[in-house]
Amino acid sequence: MPGTRLRQATGKTIAAVGAPHAARAGIVRFYDCLTGGASFLDDCVRGLSLPRKSLAPKYFYDEIGSQLFEEICDLPEYYPTRTEMAIMEANAAEIARLIGPDVELIELGSGASVKTRLVIGHARPALYVPIDIAEGQLRSASDALAAHFPWLNICAVRADFARPLRLPSFIGAPVKLKVVYFPGSTIGNFTPAESIALLRGVRDMAGTGARLLIGVDLKKDKRTLEAAYDDAQGVTARFNLNLLARINRELRGDFQLSRFRHKAFYDEDLGRIEMHLESRCAQFAHVAGRRFDFAPGETIHTEISCKYTVEEFQALARRARFEPQRVWTDPDGLFSVHLLIAI
Ligand code: AVI
Repeated sequence: MPGTRLRQATGKTIAAVGAPHAARAGIVRFYDCLTGGASFLDDCVRGLSLPRKSLAPKYFYDEIGSQLFEEICDLPEYYPTRTEMAIMEANAAEIARLIGPDVELIELGSGASVKTRLVIGHARPALYVPIDIAEGQLRSASDALAAHFPWLNICAVRADFARPLRLPSFIGAPVKLKVVYFPGSTIGNFTPAESIALLRGVRDMAGTGARLLIGVDLKKDKRTLEAAYDDAQGVTARFNLNLLARINRELRGDFQLSRFRHKAFYDEDLGRIEMHLESRCAQFAHVAGRRFDFAPGETIHTEISCKYTVEEFQALARRARFEPQRVWTDPDGLFSVHLLIAI
């Protein structure tokens, strides 16, 4: 995901779909804030025209990609989801005590909102604001949460949280504090510089005293990391290749998927997984009438997934004016969940 800052923007139109009056228990209101900015087509053409071709990972998550990501989360090799979940299960009561009641819980990249159930169940926030780019999943996850927690006010926001965003003020819920929840180590999909910019934007949006609860994947041996991003069943390969299939579906593309292979490796110097789609031969493909040439072995860079030590991440967060309050890890030191305060 490119590092566009999440910050207060002026003059942005926010389309609220639903009754404009105060929220009542169990009601989901939907706000479509996905306006402006480069389109999928613009981003594809720009990325495929670079000397080192790339595509932004946010485009993985169409309906098929979101489904494949759910499958990745259940893979035996993909330890982050179950490990983060175990950390949350073991510490949900303490987390709830530390953040307190009546908060506005804002979730960045909410997806299926699975871990959020734990936080909501324990902390009982006054308002839940899931933000996600994928409308279908945002709506279905919000409806499922509303059914599970009928007392919960939900204001679902469709937006790219890495782009300038001004949240509407959600009247009707008495809120003491904003808590931004950013699970899943999605922060790893940004470079460290982009992450600082993104967290600064979060800090500006949420204000002094706000809390940030964030899941961060930890550095570990290369084998474990590479297996997590190149699983035996080939689900991650299908997830990666779906990007080309999506271009074919939505942008009049003619990529031949069998002529590309999924490639994932851990760069120990940069402390990050890189995912690429590698051309198996000399070939070309079209996107909306434009031709792109590929040499054998040439790749399209599709994703980074940065890994940190606890101290490295805390140093990064401090640069965005977040002070560490508490950190939880699993017994094997695979994953971390940080609670930080905006200063
Ligand atoms: C969403 N994100 C944190 C995942 C990750 O681990 O970087 C995306 C992913 N890509 C391949 N597998 C999972």
